[in-house]
Amino acid sequence: MIELSVNIDHVATVRQARRIAEPDPVAAAVLAELGGADGITVHLREDRRHAQDRDVRLLKEIVRGELNLEMACTEPIIRIALEVKPDLVTLVPERREEVTTEGGLDLRRRQAALRRAVARFREAGIEVSFFIDPDESQIKLARKLEADFVELHTGEYAQAADSLLRSEIERLADGAACAAALGLGVHAGHGLNVRNVQPVARIPQITGLYIGHSIVGRAIFVGMQQAVREMKQLILEARRNLDA
Ligand code: PXP
Repeated sequence: MIELSVNIDHVATVRQARRIAEPDPVAAAVLAELGGADGITVHLREDRRHAQDRDVRLLKEIVRGELNLEMACTEPIIRIALEVKPDLVTLVPERREEVTTEGGLDLRRRQAALRRAVARFREAGIEVSFFIDPDESQIKLARKLEADFVELHTGEYAQAADSLLRSEIERLADGAACAAALGLGVHAGHGLNVRNVQPVARIPQITGLYIGHSIVGRAIFVGMQQAVREMKQLILEARRNLDA
């Protein structure tokens, strides 16, 4: 089984360009679910450049599938997460000057803080995922820090020259196998689109794909439901033989 979580941050990016009420990412979430999304992801950044606190609270009310909150491991955002109680939090690195998340979290840093955060989320009944590069040492540390899931960073695969695609997919496949063997759930995401999603969707241990920019970009032209439907169909098609 493999599920699609749609990240609606970039609907909020368009709204924030004018700092008015529309387009509303909450409405986008409803349409994404109608189009076949299994869950919705939102990244509440410290600088609030796209999603706002109000979006996260409303999403908690209306999302029918899994609500995943992407966040940096900082106290103000941890408090909001503990209050809103999404189904899953995905801890990501965050730098104010970056355009989007650049690379995975380096779990060697701030291990004590990460361990404490995991314990607090666990106590609140929230599952925890670490967004990391498909790197054996990081995956082992994720296990040690008691994450439920890892989300393997697919950004390098998505950016790779044709000659390197095969080795990037092998890296992701090895990472997924290693994580699953350690008992971790395996997700993947970043930079995935209709052209590059299928080789990732074929990695058998991956049970969730987290996709935002390409779906929202396509939704501008074909509508949110259609954009989600197309992506979901490609993912299920890639997986058909495996999950049959
Ligand atoms: N997963 C994580 C952890 C991310 O930070 C992002 C970007 O917010 C995504 C997935 C989705 O990436 P994209 O918008 O490139 O599909």
